[in-house]
Amino acid sequence: MTLLGSTETRQRVDADILEIRGGRPLTGQVDVRGAKNLATKAMVASLLGETPSILRDVPDIRDVEVVRSLLEVHGVTVSAGEEPGSLVLDPARAKSANFEEIDAHAGSSRIPILFCGPLLHLLGQAFIPDLGGCRIGDRPIDFHLDALRKFGAIVDKQPSGIRLSAPDGLHGARIELPYPSVGATEQVLLTAVKARGVTELRNAAIEPEIMDLIGVLQKMGAIISYEPNRVIFIEGVEELRGYDHRSLFDRNEAVSWACAALVTDGEIFVKGARQYELLTFLNVFRKVGGDFDITDDGITFRRGKSPLKPVMVETDVHPGFMTDWQQPLIVALTQAEGTSVVHETVYENRLGFTHALNQMGADIVVHPNGIADPNRRVPRRALEQAAVINGPTPLHGADIVVPDLRGGYAYVIAALAAEGTSRVSGVKIIARGYEKFLDKLSALGADFDVVG
Ligand code: EPU
Repeated sequence: MTLLGSTETRQRVDADILEIRGGRPLTGQVDVRGAKNLATKAMVASLLGETPSILRDVPDIRDVEVVRSLLEVHGVTVSAGEEPGSLVLDPARAKSANFEEIDAHAGSSRIPILFCGPLLHLLGQAFIPDLGGCRIGDRPIDFHLDALRKFGAIVDKQPSGIRLSAPDGLHGARIELPYPSVGATEQVLLTAVKARGVTELRNAAIEPEIMDLIGVLQKMGAIISYEPNRVIFIEGVEELRGYDHRSLFDRNEAVSWACAALVTDGEIFVKGARQYELLTFLNVFRKVGGDFDITDDGITFRRGKSPLKPVMVETDVHPGFMTDWQQPLIVALTQAEGTSVVHETVYENRLGFTHALNQMGADIVVHPNGIADPNRRVPRRALEQAAVINGPTPLHGADIVVPDLRGGYAYVIAALAAEGTSRVSGVKIIARGYEKFLDKLSALGADFDVVG
């Protein structure tokens, strides 16, 4: 049993190898809770408050466990709230942590980098272990460190991690990000709210998860305004209090289940999904041949009456098509009648997962430097790649190894749509971002066994 009270059995949480028998439509309801990419950041924000914070709809996933544990080694008391799925985070006894305790978290997640600003405000110093997260590219942290230096932090990169200090406190800064990075925007927000003076952030990320974090910080007493064209102003304040906040739903999980319905020709009601934050995805889903009904409680996704159609998609920062959505979509595009092109423009190595789909019978060619096309909307990026998917190709079972979180999810739904049996190894990674994943699959009628 975890802090949040998951009903998924320990054996299932630790499950790493699945034998999946494909060919059955996934049908039923899944409940989607708070977004991994908001809840973990809101937990870090609790360090900035003078009083306890309450976060609601926290997903029971490994990334939340990592952040909880890192907060605890820094003296924050984290306990289950009265409402199921809520956490109370009390920073009253926050303190410096020792090296060993922090280092135990090395390589487990990327969130620790966001502890920099709050710890510098609280303690005047911070130590950040080596970062983890999915291996989908270099994932540098230069934007984060450059921004922290502009706030007045002294950054000392050491072999085991990064040591930061701010003997004279932090002051507001004018920062322009080279790219609207989600993490670097969060870094600036979490640091600027208590820095002396005003911070102007240009070329900021404006994902709904960022807006929700701004909402959290405003509840805490921060003064943050934003203008068109990705400009955010933050007026530093001396003191912040705790918040009470219900996390935005997990858009990535909602999209994943939508694609699962499309791929397996099933019908899934995603409770908690909302239209507004999914507008871009819903347009693509419809163009591919998906059908959906929207209610106040959620969205039902299914395949339409006609065969699936090919599309051209370019991943981009919000309000574009998110990089975390292309993997399950590509599985569906293997069944579309014609040639689809998916450009990955956010990360330099996020199409590697397609090799295993080819092993299962797909016809996907990856162009490492993308493809020039006059119809492109997103400006070409040096690191982009493109996948050309020729369909429809029947998929058959195979032995495949999960490469990362979203790629791993894509493999599972490919195996569920394939003829025959697949052995999918490394599914533990999926627990980093999908709550009660195996329970949800079972509830939707998936035919699989945990074999390792
Ligand atoms: N970048 C730099 N330098 C930096 C920071 C980023 O060059 O200092 C580059 C990255 O290499 C990448 C681009 O900027 O090419 C965008 O990266 P960003 O900082 O926006 O990504 P992130 O904050 O590390 C978050 C999510 C990812 C999601 C991206 C894009 C979290 C914990 N992770 O990553 O989610 O794909 O934003 O929306 O919020 C996932 O959930 O599976 C996942 C990988």
